[in-house]
Order: sequence, then C-alpha cells, then structure tokens
Amino acid sequence: MMIGLLCLFAAYAAGSFPSGLVIGKLVYHTDPRQYGSHNTGATNAYRVFGAAGGLAVLILDICKGLFGVYMGQVGGALWLPEYQIYMMIAGGLLAIIGHSCSVFLQFKGGKGVATGLGVILFLAPWETLIVFAIWCVIVGITRIVSLGSIVAAALVPVTMYCFGEPLPVTVFGFLAALLVVVRHKDNIVRLLQGRELKVERIKKP
Ligand code: G3P
Repeated sequence: MMIGLLCLFAAYAAGSFPSGLVIGKLVYHTDPRQYGSHNTGATNAYRVFGAAGGLAVLILDICKGLFGVYMGQVGGALWLPEYQIYMMIAGGLLAIIGHSCSVFLQFKGGKGVATGLGVILFLAPWETLIVFAIWCVIVGITRIVSLGSIVAAALVPVTMYCFGEPLPVTVFGFLAALLVVVRHKDNIVRLLQGRELKVERIKKP
C-alpha cells in the first residue's frame, strides 16, 4: 500500500513542479507572472520568452502529465493490479491538480492544459490527436489559445465517449475538462468582453 501511495504522491509532486517559473528564473531571469496573462503556462512563456522558452515549458508540462499516469500505472501494478486503470486515472488527475494547485506556488498554478494533454496522450492517444487538431485549427484562425483550450477540453469527454473508452476514463475526461474550463474563468470573462490576449510576443517594459 505504501508504495502505491508514494507513487500517487510522486504524481502530485511532479505536477506541482513550476516549469514556467523555473525556466523563467533560471534561463531568462524573469518571472512570467509579471507579464501578459500572468500565467506560468506555455502560452504566456511564449509571450514573454519566445518560441524556445514556450516550447520548453510545453514539453516539461506535457511530461508531468505523462509521468503522473505512469506513476499511477506503476503504483497500481505493485499495489492494486486489478484496479490499475483507476490508479492511472488518479495519477493523471493528481498531476493536473498539482500543476494547478502547486505546493511550490502557495497552491496556485497553471490552467492544466499542457499537463492534461500529457495525461490524455497516455490514456487516450487517438482522442488526443483529434482534440489537438481542433485546438490547432482554432488557435491558427483566432490566435487565441484559451479559446482553443476551452473547446478542446470540452471535446475530450465527448471524443472519449464516441471512441467507447471505459467509463472511468470518460468520467476522468469530464472531470479534467471541467477543471481546465474552471481554471480559464478569467479568460472566459476576457473572451466575452472581447479583450482576450492573443498569442504573440509582448515587449517587456
Ligand atoms: O494553457 C493556457 C491557455 O489556454 C491560456 O493561456 O496565458 O492566454 O491565459 P493564457
């Protein structure tokens, strides 16, 4: 039991790792929370640091999601083999929660999109490809990442249902989507007011 719980803790701890802040401070000597949307995610990292910084944050955040599910898989195999899928889901969910409520950021954090992408890539790769393609189209046309993220998140449980994923996976998809949409509440307000930030480099004062 101890090893299973340790794996779940590792999933949360990895999710908590503040990639955007660490890269910002170590590489660019800048806190991304002071600029743009004030978010630490890949979108704002791109705005503040450029393509290399944004891509680095994106990859690290995706890896946190993949690692969370993997930790659940390992913990499940060692502790509750017959409930391994539940452990994988718990690991993924904990990684997303860690990203959004990071122990290293006074339980604040990002919006869970890239970490969630890593989680669903592991659990449901075909659905991930579809929602990622839709995200690309929306962001390509509008240049508004939050709009793409909200629509893509909402489509995750829908595509999971259409692909006949096991019920726990589809329920997870719904919960993860809900979390991501709720974390975008400020973006939704800005979208409705027509003043949402686009994905473009900003000039620091
Ligand atoms: O992944 C977060 C994205 O959907 C929105 O980011 O910085 O525009 O709030 P941002």
